[in-house]
Formats: sequence, structure tokens, C-alpha cells
Amino acid sequence: PINPDYDLATPIDLNSTGLKQNLTSYGDAHFSLFMRKLFIKALGYSEDALSRPIIGIVNTYSAFNPCHANIPQMMDAVKRGVQLSGGLAIDFPTISLHESFASPTSMYLRNLMSMDTEEMIQAQPVDAVILIGGCDKTTPAQLMGGISANKPIIHLVTGPMMPGSYQGVRIGACTDCRNNWAKFRAGTIDIEDIAALNEELAPTGGTCGVMGTASTMACLLVALGLMPLDSATAPAVSSARLRIAERTGTHAVALAKSQLTPQTLLTRESFLNAITVLQAIGGSTNAIVHLMAIINRHPTLAGTIPLSTINAIGATTPLLVDLKPSGDNYMTDFHAAGGMLALLHELRPLLHLSARTITGRTLGEDLSQTAFRPLPQTTNVNPIIRPFTSPLYPNSSLVVFTHGNLAPGGAVIKASASKSRHLLQHRGPAVVFSSPADMALRLDGDPSLRIDANSVLILQHIGPVGNPGMPEAGLIPIPRRLAAEGVVDMLRISDGRMSGTAGGTIVLHVSPEAADPESVLGIVRDGDVVVCDVKAGVLAVEVGEEEIKRRKGERRRREGGGVWEARRGVRGYRGLYMREVNQAEEGADFGFLTAAGPAGG
Ligand code: FES
Ligand code: MG
Repeated sequence: PINPDYDLATPIDLNSTGLKQNLTSYGDAHFSLFMRKLFIKALGYSEDALSRPIIGIVNTYSAFNPCHANIPQMMDAVKRGVQLSGGLAIDFPTISLHESFASPTSMYLRNLMSMDTEEMIQAQPVDAVILIGGCDKTTPAQLMGGISANKPIIHLVTGPMMPGSYQGVRIGACTDCRNNWAKFRAGTIDIEDIAALNEELAPTGGTCGVMGTASTMACLLVALGLMPLDSATAPAVSSARLRIAERTGTHAVALAKSQLTPQTLLTRESFLNAITVLQAIGGSTNAIVHLMAIINRHPTLAGTIPLSTINAIGATTPLLVDLKPSGDNYMTDFHAAGGMLALLHELRPLLHLSARTITGRTLGEDLSQTAFRPLPQTTNVNPIIRPFTSPLYPNSSLVVFTHGNLAPGGAVIKASASKSRHLLQHRGPAVVFSSPADMALRLDGDPSLRIDANSVLILQHIGPVGNPGMPEAGLIPIPRRLAAEGVVDMLRISDGRMSGTAGGTIVLHVSPEAADPESVLGIVRDGDVVVCDVKAGVLAVEVGEEEIKRRKGERRRREGGGVWEARRGVRGYRGLYMREVNQAEEGADFGFLTAAGPAGG
């Protein structure tokens, strides 16, 4: 029989599915389809295969990305799931970002990855897309791009790595990377210990094995309804992970048929659920920036869920999951305790059960259909998923500063990861560093530095524009002299970020950032008294209005427009980034990528 696709008298519906969507490459739709087919046949596909719903699989494998090491194996499983369910699986690459191998920072490239993801989903004839990712910036970049492209999407994470062990103690990336490095700096462990630890901190492929950004985002994807309820925590190297991959393929074919797109699936309630889970897991501060960017990609939700929602939900949400850095355990323990499925059952009274999921059902319906039985909680075992009656931290694990003159646009702290809780309400003199280089030079190297345990360490110019990519330099080290005296925590403040795996009394994402000539952070000086009151949401510096104005004027005369003006002349992606990136409370996304689009004027 003659293939009707070549019958010039029958028009091709440009809104159709599979290989026939968006036949615009050569003007003539029939010719465009003819070309598409002959090229894909070069790969050996038959007309039968090409008539199926096409499930695009975003492959972010890279030999520079150990967090994605299992993707080749997962790809086999996910394709099996697609093809057992009658779809055609076609994978394609996008860029791959690993935390340690993306210079200057992975955050610098997150928006680029989101553009890559959006445009490739848009460009190619896919009916639904499986987004495989895992490392910190990958999943948010994929979701940002996926919402903007608005074809049906489902996420599949690579899963956490296993913990390692050193001298009988379990260790894992990357809370223990930092703790042990701090001990090494303080001289309590030696170079042989630190070298041996280096061999064991990341003993398998997969994402960091604590509640860092990767694990947090995986849990949030479940809360948002974009992954199966049991799919966040299975280890990267487990067979369970491969079965999740296979099942994700099956879900994707159903999604291709239902055409449930993320802009429809995601509602206000989905995001409120995500924030509830964020608080209950003591998630990464980075996730707050990502969530804001994700929300602002949504055409009807953009701008409707302000940063202060984190506090409103935090006030009634206890921290239930006992994982590092807030607690003591690893993702494998969370998985063994029932993972997100168990947590969502516990959190049921706080969740909006009417939110939809990729199954097409509501979260409540999905939960009712899972045969989850709570683990017996014995009294002598400290459960990983605490009941409401004995939380790890009573509420407000993550807090946003909404008052005070230092961060009128907002700032964030993970209160539950503070190592010295008295610092959550603190007043002390500032010791100010103007950049990471300045800090490296003077923190340990300047004997005249007047600093003690009550000092407030302030690091300027690591914000989105001032230090493109907003590096995770917010974890200012304790000065070696004080560390040797036994000081383990100090109040530290910056406009940068911190790894979700890190702990301490650390205020991050101060907005507006120091590079902004109008910021207060940019004119703070040594000796200024800084007030931090986490409970009241206050972050202030005791400097009067008049003096602030005077210092801003002085700064202008000294620096001119500084980097704020100079960014107009910067070439390439760096220039694009510096000109377009918005502040942390908006998600540090490019303005022109948000649902609001390019700023006017
Ligand atoms: Fe990839 Fe930690 S470095 S998740
Ligand atoms: Mg990280």
C-alpha cells in the first residue's frame, strides 16, 4: 500500500503528534516529513516504530559527572519501559553539570542548561519527555526548561550514592567532606586521615548521599507530582533504581496520551506541598532559589508565591527527617525507612491532597493507592522519619528574613543546621571581607584582624551579578586560630549560596547583593553592629539612614558604577548572565526566561 503521508492532496495536520508535529523545517510540510523520515530511517527505524508516540529521553550523561554515572544503565531500563508500553523511546543529549567540574559554578550554567532543555524539547518531535538528571542544578534546570516548553514531562533522578566508611564510621559526600576538612584545618586530624577520607567519601556513583540540594530537589519533584511517589530515594546503584526507570518509561507513554503538561499539572497547591516537604526534610537552602525560579516560569503562578511563604508554611511544619546536615543519617537510611512515600503519609494532614500528579490522579488518590505500612517504631531505635510527636526540630527549619535593613529583598538561613543555636539570636560586631580573595588573604593571614567568637563574619560580592554564578562560598571558614580554640560555629552572612550539605549559622542570599550600588550589604564596615533574630525574621545593621546614604554616596564617588555598570560591556554568555540574571528571591533566573518575560524599558 502507498503510504498516505506522501499524498500531496491530503494536508498534514501541523498540530499532530509523533513525527508529524511541527513540520516547519522546509516550508513544505510533506517534504519536511519526507526528509525527517529518510533521515531517521538512517538509524534503522521502521514505519511501524515511527507511528508510535515518541518519548524523548533527555540524556545528561557525561564522563565529567559521577552523579550521573548510572545513566547508561538507566537508559536501557527506561527505554524498556517505554517500548513495553507501546511507545518509541528516542534519547537526546543536553549539557551535563557537575558541582565540582563546572567552573566558575554549576549555578552559572543552570540557566543555560534550562535554555538548552527548553529549546531541544521544543524543537524536536516528542510527545512526552523523560528528564533524567540528578546532580544539584540539573533537576531545577530541567524543570525550568520543561515548564517553559510545556510538553508533558516526567522526571527521573539518578538516585543517591551509598555511604562510605572510615575507621568504622560511616561517611558520605558531602556533609562529611566539609566536617572533616574543618577538622583538618583545625589540626584535629592529619594529612593521612584526610587522604584516606578522600578515597571513601564518594564510594559509588550517584548524587550526594545526604539531604543536600540533589536529594532535596528529588524529594520536591515527588511533592510537585512530577515523579512517582516512591522514586526519590532508591540508591543509584540499586536494582530498585532500574525498576523505577522502567516504570517511568511506562508513565511517560501514558502521559503522551493524556497530554498533561506541566503548566496544567502544577498549581499553587503543588508548590505549597513542595514547600511543606522542603521544611519537613530540612532541605537545601539552594532549593529555595530554584523553587522561586521554577514558580516564576509558570505563566499564571509567577509572582504569586513570595519568599515569605517559606516562613508561613515553616511555622506549622516540623522537621521530621533525620538526615545530615540537620541530623545524623544518610539517604540510604531514609530510603530504608520508607522514603518519600512514608514521609508523605506522615505529612498528609499538612498537604494539599487535591494537587495533581503525573498519574493524572490527585496526590491524595495516589497516596491511597499505595500499600504503604508504617514501620514499627521501636523506642530504642531513633527513627529516620520522625512522627509529628517527636520532630527533629519543632518547626521552621528554613527561615527567610523579612525585616531589617540589611536584606530588604530577603535572605535565608537553615536554622536547623546551626551548630550553636544561641547564634540564631545574636548581636555582634561585623568583620567584613570584600571578596573571597580578600577573605583568603586576611581570615587566617592577618594577625591584626580583631575577631572573636562573637564577631559576625560578612562576605560581600558573591551575589548573582557580583560573582556570576553566585558561588557556594557562603560557608565562611571559622578562622583557624578560633577553630583551634574550639569555636565550631559563628554567625556568617553573605549574598552567596552554600552547599545544601553544609551546616552552621549561616545567612545566605542577601538581597539586594553587595554589587548593587543601592545595597546596604555593600556598605557594611568592620565594627558595625549586626543584629540577627531568626525567630523575628530580622537581619539588620545598626547604622542610621543618614549614614547609609552618606556611605552609598562615598562608594559611588570611589567606584563609579562598578561591576553594575561594567557588565554592559562584557561579552558572551558571561555578559548575558551578568546583564540578565535577577536576584535570589526571584530565582537568579534570566529575566527574559521568566513568564513575565523581558523587563520593559
Ligand atoms: Fe552531584 Fe553532590 S556533586 S549531587
Ligand atoms: Mg551541592
